[in-house]
Amino acid sequence: MSDYDDLAARIRALCEGETDEVALMATVACELHHSDDRFDWTGFYRVVGPELLKIGPYQGGHGCLVIPFARGVCGAAARTGQVQIVPDVEAFPGHIACSSSTRSEIVLPVFGAGGRLIGVLDIDSDRPDAFDENDAKALAAILEEVFGGT
Ligand code: SME
Repeated sequence: MSDYDDLAARIRALCEGETDEVALMATVACELHHSDDRFDWTGFYRVVGPELLKIGPYQGGHGCLVIPFARGVCGAAARTGQVQIVPDVEAFPGHIACSSSTRSEIVLPVFGAGGRLIGVLDIDSDRPDAFDENDAKALAAILEEVFGGT
């Protein structure tokens, strides 16, 4: 289980002064992924056009390259601007399975300066019901601190 205070402090130190979104995403994906053995795939999908996400920096097995806002858990987070906590991916209509071992998922919208949607953070777990509101709150706070001014 992540110690989110330590993780946030480590990410804060590593990202200090950096404004490049891809560099920030790569750093956050790496630190998140290696902080918690629940996290089996950790990465970003970037907004690259109207209603369109494209894969960004990630850790884990290959992820699908392109996701329209109309599809998947990532699309739902991008479309609604709300965190998606999915305790059972097989029960989520339109879930996109990049790995057959994924059982649960959390996806958070990522907002840049002025509240502009710049992408989503997707974390998959091979464990059922791996994520809760505490994860959502802590991860959202890290994303706000890192990307809120980009
Ligand atoms: N499961 C996601 C797709 C991304 S892969 O899991 C990395 C979704 O349903 O949007």
